[in-house]
Amino acid sequence: MSDIGRRDFLVRTGLALGAAVLAGAYDRALADQRPLQNKFSSWDELRTQFRVSPKLIHLAAFFLASHPRPVREAIERHRAGLDADPIGYWYKHEKKQEARVLRAAADYLGVEPIDIALTDSTTMGLGLLYSGLALRKGQEILTTTHDHYSTETALRLRAERTGAVVRQITLYRSLKTVSPGEIVDSLRNGITPATRIVAVTWVHSSTGLKLPIHEMAHAIQSINRSRGERDQIIFCVDGVHALGVEDFRLTELGCDFLIAGTHKWMFGPRGTGLVWGHPQAWPIAQATIPTFNTQVFDLWMKNASSKGLPQSIHMTPGGFHSFEHRWALDEAFVFHQAIGKSKVTQRIYELNQQLKQGLAVMPHITLHTPLSQDLSAGIVCFEVAGMTPRQIVEKLRQRRIVGSVTPYATQYARLAPSLLNSPSELETTLAEIRHLRSS
Ligand SMILES: Cc1ncc(COP(=O)(O)O)c(C=O)c1O
Repeated sequence: MSDIGRRDFLVRTGLALGAAVLAGAYDRALADQRPLQNKFSSWDELRTQFRVSPKLIHLAAFFLASHPRPVREAIERHRAGLDADPIGYWYKHEKKQEARVLRAAADYLGVEPIDIALTDSTTMGLGLLYSGLALRKGQEILTTTHDHYSTETALRLRAERTGAVVRQITLYRSLKTVSPGEIVDSLRNGITPATRIVAVTWVHSSTGLKLPIHEMAHAIQSINRSRGERDQIIFCVDGVHALGVEDFRLTELGCDFLIAGTHKWMFGPRGTGLVWGHPQAWPIAQATIPTFNTQVFDLWMKNASSKGLPQSIHMTPGGFHSFEHRWALDEAFVFHQAIGKSKVTQRIYELNQQLKQGLAVMPHITLHTPLSQDLSAGIVCFEVAGMTPRQIVEKLRQRRIVGSVTPYATQYARLAPSLLNSPSELETTLAEIRHLRSS
C-alpha cells in the first residue's frame, strides 16, 4: 500500500482519529507514571513495585514476568469490570483499550500502531507468521542452528505442511572468537538467490549471544538492491530477549518483522506478545486465525470483502482472549518509558558486566557468553567444572538464588541479571558460585 493509500485508510477507518484522541489518554497515563522517575530515587524502590519474594535472588526473571504494580492494578480493574458485566464492559472498552495498547507499544518501538499485531506469546507470533508466509515455488527460508525451539518447530511444521525449503546455517565457529564481522559474513555467505526469508533470534537463550541485527539488516539491504520486488529478502527476528533490554527504535534497526512476547523483560501481563511488520513487508504474511478486528468483522456482516485492508489488520488472531491481561499491556510500556529506555539498558548491562567479569576470573568456571556488550545483552551462560548445569542450578536454589538451565541440546547454567536485581545480590551470587564444588 502506498503512503497515501495508507493515510487514506487510516483516516477512513478512524484509526488515525482514534489514535489522536487516544494519544491524549495515553499522555495522561504517561503523566500518571511520571512520578516514577522522581518518586523512585533508587532501583531498590523500583523493585518495591513487584511482588517477587524478597527471600530470593531472582536471576531468571526473564522467564515469565512478575507484574509490576501498575500492570497488576490494570488487570484487576479490567477483571472486575468483565466479571460484573462481561458483554457491557467488552463493548465499552474493547476498541479503546486495544487502540491504547497498540499506541503504547508503537510509541515505545518508534513505529505506527497499524503495523503491530497483538498475540499471546512469542511462540504464537512465530507460529502464525512462519506458517503463513506467502512463498513462491523454489524460494527458501534461511535460518540458523542457534534458534529457540519455537522458531525451529514453527519452520519445521511449515516445511512438513507445504514442502517449503528451510535451510539452517551456523553463524560462528566458536563463542570464544565470535565477532560481529564473522556473523555478518556467515549470513552473507549463507544467502542464495533462492533465499526469500531470513529467520533469526536477536539474543540467543542458549548462550546469551546477541546478534548484530543492525549490521545483518544492512548486509541484507545491500543484497536486496540488486533484486526485484518479488525476490526481496524479508528479515524476521525473534526479539523477545531484546525487547525491554536493548535501547532501539524499529525504524532504525532495519529488520522487516520483529516477533516478541511482552511477558518477559517488558513486564507485560502474562500471555501477551506482538508482531511488528514493516508496512512493505506485511503483504507477505497470510493470516491463519480469523481476526476479530471490528473493521473486518463489520465488512463480513455486510458481505463485503476486507481484502483491501492492510495485512497487519488480519494478523491479530481473533476469538476472545483473557482481555484483562491484554488490555493491561499498555501499562508495561508506560512503566518502561517512565524509567527511560537508555537507563534500563545501562542498568541491565552494568549488572551483567559485574556477573560476567566475576565469573570470568574464577578458575573452575567456563563462561560461554561473550564479555562484550556488543555481543551480549541480559543473559549469562556458564559451566562449573565437575557439575552438570542442573546440579549448579539446584545448588544455587538451595542458597536462594534462582537461575535456570538452558532448554537446548547443549545445556548450560543460565543467570539473567535484570531490573529486579542489585549489585549486592550479584556479589552474593558470585560468592556462592566461587564456593560451588561438585561434592
Ligand atoms: C529465544 C526465545 N524465543 C521464544 C521463546 C518463547 O517465548 P514465549 O513464551 O513468549 O512463547 C523463548 C523462551 O521462552 C525464547 O528463549
